[in-house]
Amino acid sequence: MYSLAKSLLFQCDPEHAHELTIKALAKTQHGPLAALYRRPVVDNPVRLMGLTFTNPVGLAAGLDKNGDCIDAFAAMGFGFIEVGTVTPRPQAGNDKPRLFRVKPAEGIINRMGFNNQGIDYLIENVKRSRYQGVLGINIGKNKDTPIEHGKDDYLICMEKSYSHAGYITVNISSPNTPDLRSLQYGEALDDLLSSLKQKQQALAERHGKYVPLVVKIAPDLTSGEIEQIADSLVRFEIDGVIATNTTLDRDLVFDLPHAHEAGGLSGRPVQTKSTRVIAELARRLDGRLPIIGVGGIDSLTAAREKMAAGASLVQLYSGFIYQGPRLIRTLATHL
Ligand SMILES: Cc1cc2nc3c(=O)[nH]c(=O)nc-3n(C[C@H](O)[C@H](O)[C@H](O)COP(=O)(O)O)c2cc1C
Repeated sequence: MYSLAKSLLFQCDPEHAHELTIKALAKTQHGPLAALYRRPVVDNPVRLMGLTFTNPVGLAAGLDKNGDCIDAFAAMGFGFIEVGTVTPRPQAGNDKPRLFRVKPAEGIINRMGFNNQGIDYLIENVKRSRYQGVLGINIGKNKDTPIEHGKDDYLICMEKSYSHAGYITVNISSPNTPDLRSLQYGEALDDLLSSLKQKQQALAERHGKYVPLVVKIAPDLTSGEIEQIADSLVRFEIDGVIATNTTLDRDLVFDLPHAHEAGGLSGRPVQTKSTRVIAELARRLDGRLPIIGVGGIDSLTAAREKMAAGASLVQLYSGFIYQGPRLIRTLATHL
């Protein structure tokens, strides 16, 4: 059925196809039509960060930015789901067009710019969902918040999402919000992590519940930068790291349609880069923090490479678009 849906959706503009799909899933997820995509969830549990993930295959951030169809994605068999990136206030994101398929390479270029309905809307959706598994809430900053006050936006989102999240992801690696990636380095990173950690401690006391904090990083980092980030994550007792977000590198697609579009490239062309980041992180972290591997996973082999490099869980975005929900089951069963 996915082949049919894909052949129709791939004839539409990519963002229109995305919106149609999200609307259809949101409408059907609690009714009889959910049987069209409901599959038995593979029970292959992984215990990590004090949480039990039903299986090691998660939905990556950005597909369900507002948490509109959490139950639909759960029905497809994901072992955990990450919603967002969400910002304190709703924002429109960048001008359209801002989403492009790089079909011959099974890649996607996006410069969405955190289009989302804001944290309050997302939390209402989370409250309405029936999902019992691990839910990650991925948080970011509004575009019009100056970068020097970016920390405040993360703290607002943390406060509002804390009691509803299985874990919270701090996204400092989107290439589509000006200067966001500068938070990955040096003093800016340490200052952010220190404040988030303090907030986590206060919220843990208030709610009597410890919610792990996870940081999501870019694939476009030098070995030195990866080492520095790893050291900061350990120093501030961050609970996990997601590697990686999309890349600015166009080396593997330079001659293909849409390769010149600004934004982050995902899918098969980012596979090797993100695996390298995972391997270097793993070497430096030496088991002190778990790694969630994401970037170009489109097959069991690609997922196994992420695990071999040091990931304990994986997430899918582009591979899910190109291969369909069947990929979830294959990976969940065999990883
Ligand atoms: C259209 C699109 C939107 C995305 N939006 C977000 C986002 O809001 N937050 C985030 O952390 N990552 C976002 N990502 C990055 C993915 O979560 C993932 O890290 C990246 O695409 C690499 O995985 P993949 O090759 O499986 O797609 C987005 C990716 C795509 C393709």
